[in-house]
Amino acid sequence: MANYNSLRTKLTTMLKLVVVLSLSLLAAGVNGELNVGFYQNTCPNAESLIQQAVSDAFANNSGVAPGLLRMHFHDCFVRGCDGSVLLDGNDTEKTSIPNLSLRSVAFDLIDDAKTAVEKECPGIVSCADILAFAARDSANLTGGVTWDVPAGRRDGNMSIASEALTNLPPPSFNATQLVDRFKEKNLTAEEMVLLSGAHTLGRSHCVSFTKRLYQNTSIPDSAAQTDPTLSLAYADLLRNLCPSNSNATDTVTTLMDLITPNTLDNKYYLGVMNNLGLFKSDQALMTQDDLLAFVQEFNANATEWATKFGAAMVQMGRFDVLEGTNGEIRTNCRAVNAANSNSATVKNLLINMYRNYEEW
Ligand code: HEM
Repeated sequence: MANYNSLRTKLTTMLKLVVVLSLSLLAAGVNGELNVGFYQNTCPNAESLIQQAVSDAFANNSGVAPGLLRMHFHDCFVRGCDGSVLLDGNDTEKTSIPNLSLRSVAFDLIDDAKTAVEKECPGIVSCADILAFAARDSANLTGGVTWDVPAGRRDGNMSIASEALTNLPPPSFNATQLVDRFKEKNLTAEEMVLLSGAHTLGRSHCVSFTKRLYQNTSIPDSAAQTDPTLSLAYADLLRNLCPSNSNATDTVTTLMDLITPNTLDNKYYLGVMNNLGLFKSDQALMTQDDLLAFVQEFNANATEWATKFGAAMVQMGRFDVLEGTNGEIRTNCRAVNAANSNSATVKNLLINMYRNYEEW
């Protein structure tokens, strides 16, 4: 009898343990949060393999760095940071106008990094996390700016072209529109100004700023044609490069930061303060007192900007992520896993049907 009772107590304790463990795992699945060192036990070399892939690609083509920084932003603003920007397909985000200028070298880098981590630990590291790590590594390579990346994102299985247009801010946005759009993504006005500092790096195609160069073509006078918030000398230079009928398929590009075009630093703000911001959205930071105060502060303090830029990237990287048992770990970053592709297609059809229904 004594034996029976002790066995019963042991079994009850074990059962309780199992229940507590399952409940906590369930809770982690539903409400889990991103963590620094997420792959420490499951794929300890993940971050270094990705870093290696980024620096190899950077040695061949330094454009991969601005390409990855921008791609992470474009991923997070549309359906959260879920790797949806990476999916191939007829009507996916990458076919949308703002994403046509994302760099193929950056998409290729994600494939290379994924191949490297899959070889060592298959099915563990999400494409959304690879992109977040690679964006951090790009900032480090170009400006020595770095931060710890909380990870644990999972990949989504939807990507819809029209959502890129409605969620990504266009370069024609004014201050209010910029603040509002970033607020929708859980980012403050200060974080918007911090993150705009990424325009200290990389290039732009003409179509993103030609409207600022040819405002009043009936008057053959440089000042009349130029957006008054753009430096006249800079506008003359840009007009020599870009015809008024530039479009999204033209390949001419210009570097965005005239002062230190290949370094991620705070010189973007110096440019903006001297009417050298390339887009209307860049120059918009000078049009509202609180934003202007941030521009002046970040121009005056490079270290403060770099630290806060990293923190703002972390904050952006948390937006609407899939965690726990939501989403999946894609095997190939360009396609949803086979098991989910049918249900994704059906969901896609339903969303489109619903949209059409709404339009009736
Ligand atoms: C504030 C709102 C923003 C607007 C309106 C905007 C718009 C643009 C546009 C129009 C381009 C040029 C694309 C082209 O024609 O090739 C560009 C480039 C770029 N953007 Fe932004 N952007 C914004 C915020 C951001 C943020 C938050 C980041 C990253 C944290 C970012 C990173 C970049 C980078 C690195 C490039 C250069 C890309 C390359 O060289 O391939 N931008 N952006």
